Formats: sequence, C-alpha cells, structure tokens
Amino acid sequence: MNIPGTDLKAEQAKTLAAPRRPYGLLARLLFLGMDLVYGKQRTLKKFTVLEVIARVPYQAWEHVAYIAMTHTYRAPGFARRVFEFIKESRMQQDNEQWHLLILEEWVQKDGLRESFLLYRFGPQVVAFFYYHVSWLLYVIDPKLSYALNADFEDHAEHEYMEFVREHPELEERPFESEFKADYGNHATLADVLRQIGLDERHHKEESLARIAAPRFS
Ligand SMILES: [Fe+2]
Ligand SMILES: [Fe+2]
Repeated sequence: MNIPGTDLKAEQAKTLAAPRRPYGLLARLLFLGMDLVYGKQRTLKKFTVLEVIARVPYQAWEHVAYIAMTHTYRAPGFARRVFEFIKESRMQQDNEQWHLLILEEWVQKDGLRESFLLYRFGPQVVAFFYYHVSWLLYVIDPKLSYALNADFEDHAEHEYMEFVREHPELEERPFESEFKADYGNHATLADVLRQIGLDERHHKEESLARIAAPRFS
C-alpha cells in the first residue's frame, strides 16, 4: 500500500518509539523457534520466511468465513457482512504476497544463497501448522486468532523498522523491481521496507479493531 504524502521516516520513528505488544505464549514460541532456526539477527532471508507465514491467518479466516456464508441467503445482511470480511482478508493476504515477492526478488538480485530446506521447505511446514492453529483458534473464539495475528504483525512492524535503522546504507540503494507498479513507486530500499513495516502496523490495527467488534460486524 502506498498512500501519497505519507512521511515514512516519521512512521518509522513512531514504531521505534512505541513499546511492543505483550506477546502471548503462541507468538513467543513462534518467535523463539524462528530465532533458534534462523538466528536472532534480522536478515532479508529471515523476512522472506516471516512473509510466507504472514499470509496464512488471512487464508484461514477466509476459509472459515466462506463456510459461515453457506446457506445464508435468508439473511442477506449477514451474508454481505461476511463477504466484506472476506474481501478485507483477501486484501491483506495480497498485500503480504507483494511483500514476499519484493523480498524474494531482492534476495535473488543480491545473490544471497538460500538452503532449500530452511527457506523453501521449512517455511511451508511452519505455515501449515500456523494455518491450522489460526483456523482452530478462530473457530473457538475469533478474538484469540486476531490476538495472535496482532502479535505477529506487531513483531513484523518492529523488525522491519529496526532493520532499516540498522542498515543506513539502504537509503542510498534505489528501489528497482518488477513489482513497482503493483506495490508502489518508492525511491529507495529503505523506504520500501518502511512501507512494508507500516503495512504490518495497519494489519495489526485491523486485527485489533476486529477484537473490539463482534464477529463479522
Ligand atoms: Fe508482510
Ligand atoms: Fe502483515
């Protein structure tokens, strides 16, 4: 998402000044597991793993919402609200997809070596479990699933903004990508990552808003 006139540096400062959410147990286990497997250091390659996992709660919610919408022709208002929810989930999913494509393209261009096991197979295994956890939590109580996603998005927001702070050289690197027209015409790689971090904040806020509102309202 690229909203003209956004001061991305100010948004980065806002994230860096804000405390992280008090993460729940499941989120902490996920972040700990990722640190153990991929290292504590923030890297582009680690971000590609994050983005593979980031899509799946939205896919899980979309799936549950489609089930809920079945046979609801007698309640068109309800059906429409569910459908609006599905559209929102799809937009977030697509947004995560652009993040992933941009980062993967960058990893390839920089010639960073990737092990198939750690960066192709591993993330799919984690995503498979994360999908089912998100799905099950949603069925038990949607708020639980939204809270887990808010933790995940908050973590991603901070990690991206911290990474830009750690790498001032990115201010000098122009953003050249096949996906510029799809995602946004940012001048530098630093700004692309700030924008991605800001998207993650918006995803977090959407999940928090869903916690505050009843299901499908
Ligand atoms: Fe993302
Ligand atoms: Fe996100």
